[in-house]
Amino acid sequence: EQAEKEGFQHYMLKEIYEQPRALKSTMAGHLDEAAGKVTFPGLRLTAEELKEIDKIFIVACGTAYYAGLVGRYAIERLTQIPVDVDVASEFRYQRPLVTAKTLTIVVSQSGETADTLAALREAKRLGSKVLAITNVVGSTIAREADDVIATIAGPEIAVASTKAYTAQLMAFYLFGLYLAQEKQTIDPQEHATLIAALKNVPEQVEKVLENADDLRTFAEGIKDEKSVFFIGRGIDFAVSLEGSLKLKEISYIHSEAYAAGELKHGTLALIEEGTQVIALSTQAELHEKMISNITEVKARGAKVLGITPDSHIELHRTVDELCFIPTTAPLFTPILSVVPLQLIAYYTSLALGNDVDRPRNLAKSVTVE
Ligand code: G6P
Repeated sequence: EQAEKEGFQHYMLKEIYEQPRALKSTMAGHLDEAAGKVTFPGLRLTAEELKEIDKIFIVACGTAYYAGLVGRYAIERLTQIPVDVDVASEFRYQRPLVTAKTLTIVVSQSGETADTLAALREAKRLGSKVLAITNVVGSTIAREADDVIATIAGPEIAVASTKAYTAQLMAFYLFGLYLAQEKQTIDPQEHATLIAALKNVPEQVEKVLENADDLRTFAEGIKDEKSVFFIGRGIDFAVSLEGSLKLKEISYIHSEAYAAGELKHGTLALIEEGTQVIALSTQAELHEKMISNITEVKARGAKVLGITPDSHIELHRTVDELCFIPTTAPLFTPILSVVPLQLIAYYTSLALGNDVDRPRNLAKSVTVE
């Protein structure tokens, strides 16, 4: 086992550091930069079928579900096709409005999650085409789906998912760009710019990993907190949910992720003197709104760590601590902003002396409904 960890103390840390490679492998063969195109040679869905799609359902559990929330933003922005996202155990029993023109995308690292498999079967029964995004190409979900996009993250051993999540985001970006190209819903110049930006993301993840020591210090400072809040708007809210889940899963600290604008409608009551808040602000057009939400929590005594790619003086002044991430296209920031959150969860769990790779009560793959 020590040899398999390649010198890392835990599988989770090793897998966090494998992300640049996992991202590169997942996009390999899909980006034709010279032609400014995305290709999906293995896809069975024909161009005609793709053009017919008028609605997309994304269905998954746990971390894969949170990847789906980012997937929705990406696909809707790029293609203007309406997207619904649901957890698999809910989808199945809510009589989903699925037709032959609906594409259902199931997302599963293992490809064996029982709830997700049941949702896949239900979607097929209702006449939908099913595309699976999975890390295991020989899995049951991969076999039963009409089409598969493989994430090439390599085996993920730690229960808390990291590299599979960012590889799932990459799969969504690639597929969204491909759909936009085939349906001609995107300006070719913008498409080419996005392809070039996406190609750089794996190297930018390496830059974020260089901040690991600062995040370790931060994590050691929050290990005795009762509760940690994550706030963000839009795509940052989706990432906040994943960051909060990571922290809960392995540190057992209570945590909530909230849409920053919704705080004042209830959750603000839980902010006390000294409460730790982690605020994501990666979208330039939302900085002003985030500043007012950060000011609201600070007025109640919260300490705030801000995560941003931008040099926005007022934002910097409003928070107590800052974590910088590299600049990419606004749509792609989740791959970069989630990495500090993974490291915070890891180092908090480590500081508490928990079994990081095998947290209590959780299994890597849940094969019962
Ligand atoms: C379990 C794991 C989670 C994972 C979820 C979905 O609950 O503990 O980390 O996100 O299953 O797994 P899947 O293999 O379908 O992505």
